[in-house]
Amino acid sequence: MKENSDMKIVIGSDHAGYELKEAIKKHLSSKKISFKDIGTDSSESTDYPDYAKSVALYVGKSGGLGILICGTGLGMCMAANKFREVRAATCRDANDARMAREHNNANVLCLGGRTTDEGKAKEIVDTFIQTKASPVDRHRKRLDKIAEIEEENFK
Ligand code: RB5
Repeated sequence: MKENSDMKIVIGSDHAGYELKEAIKKHLSSKKISFKDIGTDSSESTDYPDYAKSVALYVGKSGGLGILICGTGLGMCMAANKFREVRAATCRDANDARMAREHNNANVLCLGGRTTDEGKAKEIVDTFIQTKASPVDRHRKRLDKIAEIEEENFK
């Protein structure tokens, strides 16, 4: 993986994603990829929308990438997609991650701490970070349409 200390990555989880978050943090550190951890800090029960909100706001402002982990990756994804500029995708394998970046220019990766093992999660994270959005016109046009929907509905 290309090392890039300028890469802005923010990571957050609820209690169900806490262990996987810690493993992903170690993985990123081992590759010298810097990140900001916005919690949670233990396996004590918390509410996933609180962490989705912090990560989504940070991604919206920084233009970087976010990683959100709950039990399934589903609730985090729903909550994160309520924020402007956020295109969050729950990914269960590396192909999901590649397609989410390439076709959908996803900027928040959602993972399930109870559904995806550590090895696969690392593979998904690596693919998500390494893959660039496709410059092809038809993909850009579709993303513009998503942005138009956001403009109409997120007043
Ligand atoms: C917590 O029990 C669980 O509901 C949460 O982590 C997440 O999976 C929700 O989508």
